[in-house]
Amino acid sequence: MAKRQPRYVCQECGAVHSRWSGRCDGCGAWNTLVEEAATVDILTAATGKTARAKGRRLALASLDAPVAEAPRIETGIAEFDRVTGGGLVPGSAILIGGDPGIGKSTLLLQAAATLARRGHSVVYVTGEEAIAQVQLRARRLGADGSAVALAAETEMETILETLSAGPPPALVVVDSIQTLHTSVAEAAPGTVTQVRASAQALIRYAKVSGAAVVLVGHVTKDGQLAGPRVVEHMVDAVLTFEGDPSHAFRLLRASKNRFGPTDELGVFEMTGTGLAEVANPSELFLGERDVASPGSAVFAGMEGTRPLLVEVQALVAPSRLGTPRRAVIGWDASRLSMVLAVLEARCGLALSAHDIYLAVAGGLRIGEPAADLAVAAALISSRAAVALPPDVVYFGEVSLSGRVRPVPHAAGRLKEAAKLGFRGAIVPPSGGGVEAEGCRASEVALLGELVHRIAPNGVAEDGSRSPSGDE
Ligand code: TYD
Ligand code: MG
Repeated sequence: MAKRQPRYVCQECGAVHSRWSGRCDGCGAWNTLVEEAATVDILTAATGKTARAKGRRLALASLDAPVAEAPRIETGIAEFDRVTGGGLVPGSAILIGGDPGIGKSTLLLQAAATLARRGHSVVYVTGEEAIAQVQLRARRLGADGSAVALAAETEMETILETLSAGPPPALVVVDSIQTLHTSVAEAAPGTVTQVRASAQALIRYAKVSGAAVVLVGHVTKDGQLAGPRVVEHMVDAVLTFEGDPSHAFRLLRASKNRFGPTDELGVFEMTGTGLAEVANPSELFLGERDVASPGSAVFAGMEGTRPLLVEVQALVAPSRLGTPRRAVIGWDASRLSMVLAVLEARCGLALSAHDIYLAVAGGLRIGEPAADLAVAAALISSRAAVALPPDVVYFGEVSLSGRVRPVPHAAGRLKEAAKLGFRGAIVPPSGGGVEAEGCRASEVALLGELVHRIAPNGVAEDGSRSPSGDE
């Protein structure tokens, strides 16, 4: 048996230190080390087995043995199944994180209810709410008729004992991992040690019983999964549920997925009776577009395998400040600086004395470099005070030399644009030429050409509202 020694665990990243210090060596955070006595190794304690002095000999397997494709349990919520890669994998563990009040519990209760209605057995363990609260919510969601087994409990041992008593369910939802505690770890509930030990026990339960386990995790102010960064490494998939609280859209993404893609996006809308799936998100994100004002461009993007049209808005206004403001919502700030620098250096568009605001509509966050061209179009349009044609989409990556580079899935982007009634697209040079019925693609090779197309008469030096400058 290991000697009882105090150890200091960082509550941010889970790094273990043998002596206290003000700053964690692992993640550099200050004041996050907490003393946690570890008498037994948690791993061995959770299984009830003691460490063996001598290992046993394994039969080694080869890589090319025939294996069956991981079976899937479809929840019936198509947007959820898309993000997980086709449904829940039996024996796997999923961590789902998100801001408080974003709708994690609602989503999982809905998924549990649809699964139960399809004849699967589902256990929903809540550590945050009382049974009556969950029942009330189920009534609101119209899910009260389904056979979901409910429990309100936070003690790990009790939960495992209850789960092991019957045949293993298809799905176990645990809301949330931070509320659980186990007597195995001598630390306060919510500490990294507790969260890790509880998660480990539940993941082990999933592997042994074949049940899919979904854990809810809280996020900190800066959007990190609180405490269970360590849990992220242990689970098979990490999903994040996000959204702008002022909008009804909710986005589900996978940041890690051992059984599926990580670039898929699930789109939901929070309604009075729970989360509704949004099968065609482009319509939603373009719904409130103001087509007549300068500075608005439609980007034909891709989220995983699905094309998504979204409005990019820019405001370029003369600045009174020594250092003009640059504010970005929904896009990468350094990417904006790059596009601005290219516009200034390669296209002669004076922007350094202007405040610049850029926003992606609908609370969406775009990560694709293909948005460069749409961002540039919105900036040029606002700077020149010329509204862009309302029925044109933009996509393409901009290089530092001012060239417009091709991006993947051009045909899919055009098809989506055509489907939503867009008649034209400004695209990178493709060589072969891509076309979609009803949507004419027009190629630009250099960003300067785009400036000329949007503002053929040049841009007024002071950024005044007159589009006919005298440069
Ligand atoms: P919840 O699922 O409790 O969030 P989380 O578990 O992520 O903390 O969602 C709570 C919010 O959702 C709350 O602000 C109310 C809203 N809501 C609706 O708008 N409609 C509904 O049908 C439900 C159940 C909740
Ligand atoms: Mg909740």
